[in-house]
Amino acid sequence: MRRILIANWKMNLNHQTQTQLAEDFKKRLKKIKQLEIVVAPSFVHLQEVSEIFNGTNIKLAAQDVAFEKSGAFTGEVSAGEVREIGCQYAIIGHSERRIKLNETEKMVSGKINQCYGAGMIPILCVGETSEERMRNETESVIIKQLYDSIYKVSGLPEKEIIIAYEPVWAVGGSQFLDPDELAPIAFLVKKTLSAMYSEKFYNNNVRFIYGGSVNSIIAPAFWSAKFLDGLLIGAASLDIEEFYNIASEGETFSARGQ
Ligand code: PGA
Repeated sequence: MRRILIANWKMNLNHQTQTQLAEDFKKRLKKIKQLEIVVAPSFVHLQEVSEIFNGTNIKLAAQDVAFEKSGAFTGEVSAGEVREIGCQYAIIGHSERRIKLNETEKMVSGKINQCYGAGMIPILCVGETSEERMRNETESVIIKQLYDSIYKVSGLPEKEIIIAYEPVWAVGGSQFLDPDELAPIAFLVKKTLSAMYSEKFYNNNVRFIYGGSVNSIIAPAFWSAKFLDGLLIGAASLDIEEFYNIASEGETFSARGQ
């Protein structure tokens, strides 16, 4: 499976800045051929950004989807709706939603189900808070998040899933995960999902990616990790040159077959 680079624009832009950034992505990322590039704009701009990316290799992701298919859920947006606009991916269970909006594992699990029902690939975010890290609970937190959100999902192990390890303390801040700390987490995710399904499932249907304050200075240290299938970028994806640099560094490593 190809390595993937995902831009999560969150709720940072308005109409003008979002369409401008989409135009910049379209122009600047033309040369990126090895990586799969995915952008997650805000819901209200999905349609317009989708039209800008039409005819390019850039794919679209929703930042979230509803945990039910349709019905009386004021304010929610269904997986079917975003799929119709062209989203092939959806970010599910982001820590900002889990923490600030009280999203539960049950909701996360429902959202993954809806992604599969609509024909989309979920990007499931997992990761520990700084308190959990201090209590040495990183491993147990990740195992629980994986079991609770995937275990009742229909569609696995046949479908694809992306697991984004995003330690909460390293997201959107000034704290960085030492890239050397990633290998044991990748191993843990592989072990857990292989035990739930099979190693073949992990090798063929799962991509393990990292997200958390990644910029173009630290990106090469992550791209050089052979077990890593991609990166999820927040703040640094709002700056086209920064994002382009992260992408071209990724291409160098992909091109070397690393
Ligand atoms: P960040 O965000 O790169 O700004 O830390 C990553 C994310 O929230 O996915």
